[in-house]
Amino acid sequence: MSQISNATEQLPHILVLGMGGTIAGLAADPEGNPNKYKAGQVGIDSLLAHIASALPQNIAVISEQLANMNSRNLSESLLTDLGNRIQECLNDLLVKGIVITHGTDTMEETGLFLQATCGHRAQILGKRIVITGAMLPANAPAADGPRNLVDAISWASMPLENCPNGVYAVMSGKVCLAMDLAKRHGSALNAPLRDSPTSPVNLINPSWLSCVKAVQAAWGEDLPIPKAEEWPWVEILTSHAGARARTIKHWLTSEVLGLVLAGTGAGGFHDDWSEPLDEAIDRGIALVRTSRTGSGATYPHIPEKDAHGCMASGTLSAPRARIALQLALNAAETLKISGKALTWQDFFARIANLPEFR
Ligand code: SIN
Repeated sequence: MSQISNATEQLPHILVLGMGGTIAGLAADPEGNPNKYKAGQVGIDSLLAHIASALPQNIAVISEQLANMNSRNLSESLLTDLGNRIQECLNDLLVKGIVITHGTDTMEETGLFLQATCGHRAQILGKRIVITGAMLPANAPAADGPRNLVDAISWASMPLENCPNGVYAVMSGKVCLAMDLAKRHGSALNAPLRDSPTSPVNLINPSWLSCVKAVQAAWGEDLPIPKAEEWPWVEILTSHAGARARTIKHWLTSEVLGLVLAGTGAGGFHDDWSEPLDEAIDRGIALVRTSRTGSGATYPHIPEKDAHGCMASGTLSAPRARIALQLALNAAETLKISGKALTWQDFFARIANLPEFR
């Protein structure tokens, strides 16, 4: 019998952390217009009570409400709280796995953040961290949240032969590495992983599994979690027809520490940006190039030679590249104090140069 009660705290259990999102959303007229709703309305306890009978036998589940919000309002300090809480839970012998219910809008950022800060620890401690969410609110007739939550808890608790532990996302019957999440559709039920390398949850695809193993093997060390108020300020700027030099010049007068350039095609940007971006580098602003196309990779010195110090994002989308750059800047600053003289580019490369799924 599945237990969903805090009486199970002293037993091995799966911890489900509620963050809000559409999975906890309510529509005013669920039959007539399920797409018009308010995210983050239902508590994680109620979501779990609703699926109790569908959970695999002998899984004890404990819930904790970390937030109940629309994830478009996700703050960096909440990411810090989430990361710190997950690190505590990874060290707790009674916690066998962790599920996070999260809004799909910024799952992409949280997935990359958790991989980069907790992924190695999860692997060596033999635990899975699984993010899930939903595209339809909890009271919609065809709500997808209940099934996603059951699948996520199963994935977090099932010892699967040969399948490494680490940080995953489960939705719509599919599983992917959480660092591969990228919401690519406004309403499709599989929006956050529709363009990501995935496997069906119930039938592991061997070629996906071998890529997962290669990525996990290459991930040797977690980056430090920035303190709540100390996340480096990094912005995303998109290149487009009619882009102006003065957009970049505007940022030169700010305290921004890094810019992610969502370029056209393979990650090129408007020629009018070249001169002010050189100035940005001279001022010590970190630059990362990615592509606004939404898929494919951005490689060094393609389409043109990169300005000295500017990094290509590999397969990281702009939102993920932004989190990676923030963590890299923070790591370079934090670890400088402890005597490791590595640059932000060294740390960024660890994330951007992981083996690619093809
Ligand atoms: C949110 O991200 O909180 C709202 C959208 C969603 O969960 O699908």
